[in-house]
Amino acid sequence: MADLDGLDIKLNRPEKKKAPKGYEPKTKAPMEWGMKNRLSRVIKPATGRTVMLAVDHGYFQGVAVGLEDLEDTLLPLLPYADALMPTRGGLRTCVSPDWDIPVVLRASGGNSLLGELSDEDLSVSIEDAIRLNVAAVAISIYVGAPNQHKTLLALSRMVDEATRYGIPVLAVTAVGKDLGKGAKYLSMASRIAAELGATFVKTYYCEGFERVVDSCPVPIVMAGGKRIPEPEALELTHNAITRGAAGVDMGRNIFQADDPAAMIQAVSAVGHEGLSPKQALKMYEELKAAGKGGK
Ligand code: R5P
Repeated sequence: MADLDGLDIKLNRPEKKKAPKGYEPKTKAPMEWGMKNRLSRVIKPATGRTVMLAVDHGYFQGVAVGLEDLEDTLLPLLPYADALMPTRGGLRTCVSPDWDIPVVLRASGGNSLLGELSDEDLSVSIEDAIRLNVAAVAISIYVGAPNQHKTLLALSRMVDEATRYGIPVLAVTAVGKDLGKGAKYLSMASRIAAELGATFVKTYYCEGFERVVDSCPVPIVMAGGKRIPEPEALELTHNAITRGAAGVDMGRNIFQADDPAAMIQAVSAVGHEGLSPKQALKMYEELKAAGKGGK
């Protein structure tokens, strides 16, 4: 295997305490108007952050807990989400086209929990993505996994096609099972995604997350992951934001929370208003108690 020492650079970067004023994309490459406009619908210019609601789980697991009735789950949450990440089937059948919500469409797939998950390819054509008026498309890559080669080329192919129409591409990073979810490989996967042309990247929070952010030349949104208690999920969000994330793309920790609508509001307050985990938990508990979460 090639030498990976370059991934161990220590950056000693101080924590970012304040929300950035205005949207300053990390990317140095000039962005064409349509691409920038679409990305601005997802990552809000006022704060430079996004709270994306991920509900694409069905593409590989069928019915997910909390998404048994997708429309029912979404109705109380959509008013608080900056963008929605659904499958095209979920979008067409369960989201009214009247909702003014930017869509980051899941556009890779081809396997299930019963198979080799990394065995994915593009699953939506750019024409259909345009037909659905998406703000961006999301493609998974599996670095260090059996189908690394295929998924990296699929990402590259989608970047070629989407760039032609000014559509941003979100690379969703996964790393091989044995590699763990540490900064070394998440950083490697995120950087590879950016080098292949991804407009922004979704990856997990980890110790040394600031290294992952700093070594990636495009914005990073934090992936949610398995449900954890609400106080921990809010802390995780805060940690990611203060270490440079451009927001979150969260599913189960929102829609499986005791009060999903209260949770998305609390996550959003951390992302956009810089609430501390303690303040956000208080907000969550108050909304929940008052029944204002909209549950
Ligand atoms: C991640 O690879 C997939 O896109 C998931 O279906 C989903 O987005 C994960 O969301 P969460 O882990 O926050 O439930």
